[in-house]
Amino acid sequence: MKTDSQVLVTGGTGFIGSHTVVELLQAGYNVVIVDNLCNSNKAVLGRIKQIVGDEAYKNCHFYEVDICNKGALDEVFSRHNIGSVIHFAGLKAVGESVDKPLEYYSNNIGGTLALCEVMREHGCKSIIFSSSSTVYGDPDELPLTEKSPKKNATNPYGWGKWMIEQILSDLYTADQAWDVVLLRYFNPIGAHESGLIGEDPKGIPNNLVPYVAQTAVGKRDVVHVFGDDYNTPDGTGVRDYIHVVDLAAGHVAALAWMQGKTGVEAFNLGTGHGSSVLEVLHAFEKACGHKIPYVIEPRRAGDIAENYADSSRALEILGWKTERDLADMCEDSWRWQSMNPDGLSDD
Ligand code: NAD
Ligand code: UD1
Repeated sequence: MKTDSQVLVTGGTGFIGSHTVVELLQAGYNVVIVDNLCNSNKAVLGRIKQIVGDEAYKNCHFYEVDICNKGALDEVFSRHNIGSVIHFAGLKAVGESVDKPLEYYSNNIGGTLALCEVMREHGCKSIIFSSSSTVYGDPDELPLTEKSPKKNATNPYGWGKWMIEQILSDLYTADQAWDVVLLRYFNPIGAHESGLIGEDPKGIPNNLVPYVAQTAVGKRDVVHVFGDDYNTPDGTGVRDYIHVVDLAAGHVAALAWMQGKTGVEAFNLGTGHGSSVLEVLHAFEKACGHKIPYVIEPRRAGDIAENYADSSRALEILGWKTERDLADMCEDSWRWQSMNPDGLSDD
């Protein structure tokens, strides 16, 4: 990163973005957020300020900008000395991506192309991209390492991640001044321990933990467990859940590590430990102090039985590892959910 330069965080008011902005500000970085607020709320900025304090928040700048709008992005790059970009902005509902492939490809891939073009025009060639374990598809072997083969995606959201990884790798092949870090997240859950920021899904949650949290707080009647006949210890799906604050810290570690380097590197960010749907549900019951009703349903289309990460590469190279376990994730998620039962309104 250039001396005195700033970090651009696209999608910085979203779930993972907001937690990463907190970690960056607390680590002394100067942060510029761009977000079009299509899946987040401006009120998160006030919450970030509450967490980091007035002094650190002076280093946080926000622009309501769509990354597909090259002109608006260009203005942000002209106004600030952007040294690196952490690129979270994107649509992420897997089921919706099947119904709206054009919208997903246009926003996620089109937005990334626009961003990279503006970066190149301003001589900024350092990017961390939010990828996903979805690029590994249905794995032949566990745990997944970065050398595990990438498989066909089963939906436009997943293909988008797959293709953006390829596009960024091709950029480096064409111009070795680029510095690309692909962070493959496993299943991010939890919330900041303050309870001030967390996951704020609009409508009915697609993912397990927000659904469990809303059931625990009484907003939903019952958790639907998708399948209990998988080849796993209790028959329900197993995933590598990672605390969002650990994940955010992974970005700060990657940002520090990549300075002055060029190349393309992928890292798995997970705990290395798989938990079943029922284990998560029972851990959440402990956190909230009461039973959570559930029913067993048929398997959800496109789901795999099990995945979990080998994150030893991130430890060896970035010096990063997770510090929080499933109990911490559920406690923090519950604190966020119970303090903000309706998510963030415009406070
Ligand atoms: P999120 O929806 O909370 O955050 C994404 C943010 O991007 C939102 O604030 C949204 O308003 C913004 N955005 C979307 N399109 C935009 C555009 N065209 N211009 C500007 N802003 C735009 O999602 P999240 O969970 O924080 O995920 C962040 C990134 O991590 C996404 O790329 C997602 O695909 C990826 N990811 C998430 C998970 C997960 O389980 N949450 C797992 C793997 C990868
Ligand atoms: C999903 C996406 C993945 C994406 C990730 C983050 C699919 C098929 N995969 O991962 O591409 O990167 O979210 O956004 O959508 N479950 C229930 N009941 C529920 C919800 C989920 O039993 O109401 C189960 C699922 O069957 C699975 C586990 O809980 O076994 C986790 O599901 P979820 O939170 O949706 O994450 P993934 O499917 O792993």
